[in-house]
Amino acid sequence: MRILVTAGPTREAIDPVRYLSNRSSGKMGFAIAVAAAGRGHDVTLITGPVSLPSPAGVKTVRIGTAEEMLVAVRGHVPGCEVLIMAAAVADWRPKTFAAQKQKKDVTSATLELERTPDVLQSVLPLKGERLFIGFAAETEHVVEYAQRKLVAKGLEAVVANDVSRGDAGFEVDDNQVTLVTPDAAPEAWPLMSKREVAERLVRWVEQRAC
Ligand code: CTP
Repeated sequence: MRILVTAGPTREAIDPVRYLSNRSSGKMGFAIAVAAAGRGHDVTLITGPVSLPSPAGVKTVRIGTAEEMLVAVRGHVPGCEVLIMAAAVADWRPKTFAAQKQKKDVTSATLELERTPDVLQSVLPLKGERLFIGFAAETEHVVEYAQRKLVAKGLEAVVANDVSRGDAGFEVDDNQVTLVTPDAAPEAWPLMSKREVAERLVRWVEQRAC
């Protein structure tokens, strides 16, 4: 299968030296891309700024902002059968970009923000028979919120993770996820390495696609 995976955060510039972003390391999305390529799939990985090297055997596209992520995903969805959106796309960006570095000569400042595009939502019109899988990073009501995202975005699955845990989720090598699907009870997977989560998710995708 041709599988498109997104990973990492996006960065939304405030001025030439500052940006808004989040704690995503890209490890989960990269692990999915590696697992899928290892199982013989044709994999494209679109990633925000992370410190991970491009995986062998995976076509890797590097982007910076949510807007650039949208353009890249929109361009690649038509050529794939599966989209796995593991990226932690920033939801907000500064309303204006300051062309020069802002000096700290004021004691307080207010940053006006606007919403970034929702990438998954924006490419839904291209979905057709494709499998679309989202991630849900939550700190409370993890399964309930994931179920809402599943329904709202009409996805085949949402991989929900509780990012308030110290031993799983952001930055670390392990993850504890719950697979939320429309036609089965939520499946809580045990705490395991991101490599193992990725392998299990790719196998689930293969079964679901048959
Ligand atoms: N997502 C996206 N574009 C955004 C934000 C999120 O495509 N601007 C995708 C993520 O890649 C993920 C899914 O939507 O697969 C859910 O992301 P999450 O951040 O958990 O939720 P949001 O949809 O942003 O909703 P909220 O922040 O209210 O929880």
